[in-house]
Amino acid sequence: MSAGKRGALIIFEGCDRSGKTTQSRLLVELLKSKDVPVQAMNFPERSSNIGQVINSYLTNSKDLSDEVIHLMFSANRWEHMNQLKQKLLEGKTLIVDRYSYSGVAYSAAKGLDFDWCYAPERGLLKPDAVFYLRAPASDLASRGQYGEERYEKAEFQERVAKVFDRICSKEASYWHQFDASQPAEDLHAQIASITDELLPKVATQPLDKLS
Ligand code: TYD
Repeated sequence: MSAGKRGALIIFEGCDRSGKTTQSRLLVELLKSKDVPVQAMNFPERSSNIGQVINSYLTNSKDLSDEVIHLMFSANRWEHMNQLKQKLLEGKTLIVDRYSYSGVAYSAAKGLDFDWCYAPERGLLKPDAVFYLRAPASDLASRGQYGEERYEKAEFQERVAKVFDRICSKEASYWHQFDASQPAEDLHAQIASITDELLPKVATQPLDKLS
């Protein structure tokens, strides 16, 4: 890496089963094949103390109020921010499965106030791009049984999708919406082409914060 060039912060967002995991893996593999320094991450990051509480909540072994779990998800991002920043400044591109927008979408879908949900996210690193994989919840449900985790119910996912849609139209300058029901290779090709343009563009831009 030449001096002063930073990596890009790229986020995948979407409902459960929208293909984020496959698409983020394909993108990481592509970048590795081009010798771009890259690392995959995901939120919630379940290995920390906070992450373990989140994991117990998601697997239904622990009950917490909607507000408390919301703040835990946010704290889980905050506890990793210095690490993310350092990697980006070292020139590493980060491909992250879920971020603040999942935080807002899932909690607002439960009925919490949108602005209240967004407030603790302010000040976190701002993504250079968000790839939003969008498909009707009914399509996603037909990809196989939803799992056992707390949020994996079609009707709830529909409400989550509505919040993602709202954020997508507000944050259009760096959000890219994709039809998640198309073949994975086609989707990957579109994502690859946007990433190709993005990396050199952001390399000399300062890191920004969510405001
Ligand atoms: P994740 O570990 O990405 O699971 P999956 O691979 O099944 O998508 O996320 C687990 C759940 O946590 C998922 O249903 C979305 C939800 N979530 C929140 O409610 N708030 C958050 O801030 C994040 C990051 C995820």
